[in-house]
Amino acid sequence: MKGVLLSGGTGSRLRPITHTGPKQLVPVANKPVLEYAIEDLKEAGITEIGVILGNKGRDEIQELLGDGSEYGVKITYIIQGNPLGLAHAAGCARDFVGDDDFVMYLGDNILKSGVTSLVESFEAGDYGAGIALQEVDNPQAFGIADVDDEDNVTELIEKPDDPPTNLALIGMYVFSPAVFDAIDDLEPSWRGELEITDAIQDLLEDGHEIDSHVVTGWWKDTGKPEDILEANRLVLEDESLETAGTIETGAEVEGRVELHESATIKDGAVVRGPVSIDKNTTIGSGAYVGPYTSIGANSTLESVHIENSVVIGNSELTASGRIVDSLLGRNANVESAEELLPEGRRLVVGENSQLKL
Ligand code: G1P
Repeated sequence: MKGVLLSGGTGSRLRPITHTGPKQLVPVANKPVLEYAIEDLKEAGITEIGVILGNKGRDEIQELLGDGSEYGVKITYIIQGNPLGLAHAAGCARDFVGDDDFVMYLGDNILKSGVTSLVESFEAGDYGAGIALQEVDNPQAFGIADVDDEDNVTELIEKPDDPPTNLALIGMYVFSPAVFDAIDDLEPSWRGELEITDAIQDLLEDGHEIDSHVVTGWWKDTGKPEDILEANRLVLEDESLETAGTIETGAEVEGRVELHESATIKDGAVVRGPVSIDKNTTIGSGAYVGPYTSIGANSTLESVHIENSVVIGNSELTASGRIVDSLLGRNANVESAEELLPEGRRLVVGENSQLKL
């Protein structure tokens, strides 16, 4: 069994964060989303992984993952170029996959339970594909599976207007190499993409059985800023957090706090977990870091109150205001404006930024 990890796409819904890098490298609990996928594949016993690269962020992704040895896997990079759909991306992996079965994992998704049970269930039968499903409230936005009374998959439809069920395809698939012939026969959908959902439907029509697996633990597609915040909250709630850094006498620290060994919480600072604080970061006197917040590396906080937020890193947050439910890109600074008129705000904000004042 091999792994094919999709890391293309434009990340348009995560602008401005993705102006400078691929969406798969946005950190959740101070770890790039893509690393969670590599760890899940490794846990399922998959060590040969093809990483599909789009036009964006190729260098950054290769720099992070390297040849995979740091993660105990072997990585082969495959260039997809323009994003022409998930089935097109899968098709690019044909030579890499050869005659093996493979897991296809969308690199901007995170799920609690990993892919081990999906792989085991597929391997126990004789299937053309295995799909992971979860009930959703908005089935029109996903690929949807219809099932009969015995839970056999009877139909797959991409973003149906009139969904037969609310069982969504969650972006984790297992395929036999038969999928490549199905991909060859696809026509672009209404959105101009080759849909993997249509390829699985073709497998079904060709007489292959489809293994379905309902995932009960949380799953998050991290496409939008609010998804990153929610994924961050879910991961911080779940993971064991290690406090290795310095907590000065007089600092008030409650709950679970991940503190890198080179990070410091100073006298007079208040931190209420779950929180993650990465390397070389200082939480200064008067700063408050509240639950479900991750502060990236090389940052300094003074006076600011922040909670339920993700700060990617290299930030100076020294304003005395409250920052909530926020996603701050690398090198973003929030300073105090005392020299300005009362209520004055001074903004230097990039394209596609969103401010709520
Ligand atoms: C894609 C798939 C869809 C699947 C979803 C999971 O949708 O086409 O079938 O349910 O991923 O996140 P997209 O994100 O391209 O709209």
